[in-house]
Amino acid sequence: MRRLDFLVRKDELGATCLRESPPQSLGDGQARLCVEKFALTANNITYAAFGEAMNYWNFYPAETGWGQIPVWGFATVVESRCPGIAPGERFYGYYPMSNEVVLQPLRLSPGGFMEGAEHRAALHAVYNSYSRCGADPFHDPDTEDAEAILRPLYTTSWLIDDFLANNDFFGAAGAGTGLVVLSSASSKTAYGTAFRLARRQGIELVGLTSAANVGFCRDLACYHRVLAYDQLDQIDAEAPSIYVDFAGNAALRKAIHTRLVNLKFSSSIGGTHVDQLGGAHDLPGPRPVLFFAPAQIKKRNAEWGAALLSQRLLESWREFIGTVCRPAEPWLLIEHHRGADAVQAAYERVLSGRDDPRKGRMLSLADG
Ligand SMILES: NC(=O)c1ccc[n+]([C@@H]2O[C@H](COP(=O)([O-])OP(=O)(O)OC[C@H]3O[C@@H](n4cnc5c(N)ncnc54)[C@H](OP(=O)(O)O)[C@@H]3O)[C@@H](O)[C@H]2O)c1
Repeated sequence: MRRLDFLVRKDELGATCLRESPPQSLGDGQARLCVEKFALTANNITYAAFGEAMNYWNFYPAETGWGQIPVWGFATVVESRCPGIAPGERFYGYYPMSNEVVLQPLRLSPGGFMEGAEHRAALHAVYNSYSRCGADPFHDPDTEDAEAILRPLYTTSWLIDDFLANNDFFGAAGAGTGLVVLSSASSKTAYGTAFRLARRQGIELVGLTSAANVGFCRDLACYHRVLAYDQLDQIDAEAPSIYVDFAGNAALRKAIHTRLVNLKFSSSIGGTHVDQLGGAHDLPGPRPVLFFAPAQIKKRNAEWGAALLSQRLLESWREFIGTVCRPAEPWLLIEHHRGADAVQAAYERVLSGRDDPRKGRMLSLADG
């Protein structure tokens, strides 16, 4: 089997190529996995946009100028020189956009393993952890495509909600007047956050989105109000408020910080508006704070213990996935894209930002 890797130019994300090469030979302690399928959302494009600054290119290094975007998905062991990792076993985790990957499992447990390749040692543990599907309480074969797409996103959504509540909404909540304004409201991470925040008292959720996605966001019914980006004048400027920024759009951020004169906190989560990213110079109001999910995990691990944290997240995940995948009115419609041409086309669509927000895209370069 030839190895296929989908590469993008680091300085021009629209330029891509498919690299074909002979399979890498396995060293002691290594395992070869067939990457069966993986999700692609704006989150992966953000990995690429911040690839240098935040080391996302370092997971699966490529030749100079090119990068491999990491993706979340499922892979099956096809060959192993690592005791405890058996051919046929499936793992959920962080893979390259490829048909196969060679990993070096370390710290094996009944639940999974940690990737032990030296070049990944300094990268965050959350990305180096692989779960055995058969032992993973988050895994349900019936909804595994939605799991690949939403699990890393919803974990962040859940932590954002927990972080804001844990900080008493920075004084913005109370008497039904506090506003939490979310940009890129049609994104999965934003609506997952709204799904959680909608259970909190004393805040009104305002989703901001592009005109084409207003209907989708209203149909979700997890925002109290949905406005298009050019309707900021309809937001109560005096209300105590929080901005939760998934778009990363510098001009929009400035307009929101200018409009919301009682802005208590500004949280920088993402950068979906990849062509309009920018710094926070000359910004009125509080300085945006980069949301760092592992810090909230660490805090809750210390306060609650890992088991309780995991149990709370799992309960919430099951509720969310049940809502998103309910047959009557699903929030997410899965589409599969198999083969190099289909992967290329799906990548271009996600990169363009003009994709239907209902769609959840599962890609595969594997045979079959
Ligand atoms: N900090 C963290 O730990 C963390 C974790 C997870 C996700 N995130 C971030 O959250 C953001 C959302 O990720 P997601 O995977 O949930 O996104 P998604 O569901 O794929 O979002 C799609 C939406 O993003 C906007 N969009 C996407 N590409 C665009 C483009 N090129 N130009 C303009 N708008 C574009 C559009 O929303 P609108 O029309 O509504 O603007 C679109 O409907 C990403 O930036 C991601 O990196 C951060």
